[in-house]
Amino acid sequence: MTRLVQTAAIAALCILIAPLASQGADISVERGRQISVIGGCNDCHTVGYNESGGQIDPAKALKGSAIGWRGPWGTTYAANLRLIARQKAKSEDEFVQYAKTLKTRPPMPWYNVRAMDESDLRSLYQYIMSLGDPGDPPPDAVPPDQEPKTPYRPIEPPVAPKS
Ligand code: HEC
Repeated sequence: MTRLVQTAAIAALCILIAPLASQGADISVERGRQISVIGGCNDCHTVGYNESGGQIDPAKALKGSAIGWRGPWGTTYAANLRLIARQKAKSEDEFVQYAKTLKTRPPMPWYNVRAMDESDLRSLYQYIMSLGDPGDPPPDAVPPDQEPKTPYRPIEPPVAPKS
C-alpha cells in the first residue's frame, strides 16, 4: 500500500468509527426507561413495582404513591413524575437544569439524579413525557408534628445490637 492509500484508509476508518464512539451518548425513550429502572426510580415512584418483582404497570409508571415515608422530616410522598416534568420544566433543556439542581426531603435520593449525565436526563425526560396521561398529584407532605391521614412507612434510625 502506498502512503497515500494508507492515509486514505485510516481516514475512512475514522469516519466509520466516529458515530460508533458517540453511541454511548444516545438519547431515547427506551434508554430513559432503562435509566428509570437501574436508577431505582420505579422502586418508589411506581406503585406495585417492587411487589411484582419489577413489572412496570403502564397505567402507574412514575405516577408517584400515596403511601408516605415518615421520619424526622415529616411525611413525604413519592412525586408524580409525569406532573413534575410538566410543571417544573417547559422544555427538555429546562428539565435538565431542574434535575441538575434538584434537592428534596428524604428519602428521595436527589443526589443520584444530579449525578446523571445530561444524556441520561434527556432520555429520562423523553421517557416520562411518553408515558401519557399525567393523572393526579400524591398527597401533600405532612409536617413532622402532624399525623398523616394515609398509610405510611416509618423510617427509624438504625438500632445497635445488644452486646
Ligand atoms: C426511596 C424512595 C425514592 C426513590 C428510590 C426515588 N424517589 Fe424521587 N421522590 C421520593 C419522595 C418521597 C419524594 C418527595 C420528596 C419531598 O416531598 O421533598 C420524591 C420526589 C422526587 C421528585 C420531585 C421533586 C420536586 O421537585 O418536588 C423528582 C423529580 C424525583 N423524586 C425523581 C426521582 C428519580 C428520577 C428517581 C430515580 C433516579 C427517584 N426519584 C428515586 C422517593 C424516591
